[in-house]
Amino acid sequence: MANVDIYPASLRLLGRSVLVVGGGETAAGRAKGLLDAGARVTVVAPALSDALAALHDGGLLAWEQRSYTSSDVDGMWFVHAATGIPDVDDAVAADAEAARIWSVNASDASSSSAWMPAVASVDDVKIAVNAGGDSRRAQALRNAVATALESGSLPLRRRKVSASPSQGSVALVGGGPGDAGLITVRGRRLLAEADVVVADRLGPRSLLSGLDADVRIIEVGKTPGHHPVPQEEINAILVREAQAGNRVVRLKGGDPYILGRGGEEAIHCRENGVDVEVVPGVTSAVSVPAAAGIPLTHRGLAKAFTLISGHEDLDQVPAGSDHTVVILMGIGTLNQSVKTLSAAGRGADCPVAIIENGYAPNQRVTIGTLGTIAAQAAAVRVANPAVVVVGDVVRVSPLAPPELATANYGTQPKTLTHP
Ligand SMILES: C[S@@+](CC[C@H](N)C(=O)[O-])C[C@H]1O[C@@H](n2cnc3c(N)ncnc32)[C@H](O)[C@@H]1O
Repeated sequence: MANVDIYPASLRLLGRSVLVVGGGETAAGRAKGLLDAGARVTVVAPALSDALAALHDGGLLAWEQRSYTSSDVDGMWFVHAATGIPDVDDAVAADAEAARIWSVNASDASSSSAWMPAVASVDDVKIAVNAGGDSRRAQALRNAVATALESGSLPLRRRKVSASPSQGSVALVGGGPGDAGLITVRGRRLLAEADVVVADRLGPRSLLSGLDADVRIIEVGKTPGHHPVPQEEINAILVREAQAGNRVVRLKGGDPYILGRGGEEAIHCRENGVDVEVVPGVTSAVSVPAAAGIPLTHRGLAKAFTLISGHEDLDQVPAGSDHTVVILMGIGTLNQSVKTLSAAGRGADCPVAIIENGYAPNQRVTIGTLGTIAAQAAAVRVANPAVVVVGDVVRVSPLAPPELATANYGTQPKTLTHP
């Protein structure tokens, strides 16, 4: 097709009459799009596809069950010729042209006065791509832009202040263990749309520097035993900012619902009438051991695991070393935990790994046994944040010393560091 200049514009079809000639799949696609835009759609066709019949049965469009006649274009704002029969589509386009009505001829783009771009909607953003008459090229470009918007890598945030500000919202986003690549696509997108980010100390903090300069970042990070912003105040900030009309992202480390008080935050928002979305995250309980090459279950070594905080009753967990125990916030109580687990039946030779700063450049892995780990941890001054893994699965780590390792698991993964 010759390269023709076009004039992009967006039609506002709410309540306006639009004609679709044809009863097949192409006509159904056009009718759906027109109905989404609020148009009053009339379909002229002797028979309807299932999709069109469903729309008609649902009372969403009018159907003239017959062949097309020239007077069908009368009074229309916009016309689609989509019968699949070139002579009929050309006749529809010619009638529309004579009546000075914009039309799309699905059989012959060159005789169309209007072209259909490749379209996608993300939130309230619509993307429409024309690519020199090459529809597959337009679709590929449309898909690429839509994917980039969905994943938050394009600036989706609203800039225009609404004349009647609506109430904002809160998203509790699980940011994963810290690496920017381990947040979900949904979480990344909500972050790109946020006006206010209420941030933890852990999680993908490098993403914060990529936000617009006018996005407000409220730091509420805690360390074990030190909560500079108490939980009640965090809850209040979320509600206050949302009620001021902001899109608030509560960016949390790991998963919001795993030892992260996300449940309390969600309940507090709902109790105060604030919309809240919870976006799951990759919990450190599972991912940080993986960063050290430790699977929490492994055929022949462990079928189950218990996740527990260092403050809880460790003597209540199953005693066999084939049941993995994962301890978060467990460094301050490590000595006591080791004693409890040994006494509860695991024995001094049960393997233990401590992974500090998982996925960070300063990640460090210390591996020993219940009999040795307390002294090892003290010697290298192990500190939070760290995940403690207790059980036979530690033997699978490429970092396990030869006396503990079950097999040669190949070369050390790039991300791993020895103490
Ligand atoms: C308050 S808990 C929050 C857990 C979080 N909701 C999750 O699902 O991962 C904080 C604890 O998670 C663990 N943790 C989180 N990120 C970590 C990381 N990158 N490396 C090591 N431990 C981490 C540490 O045990 C830390 O003390």
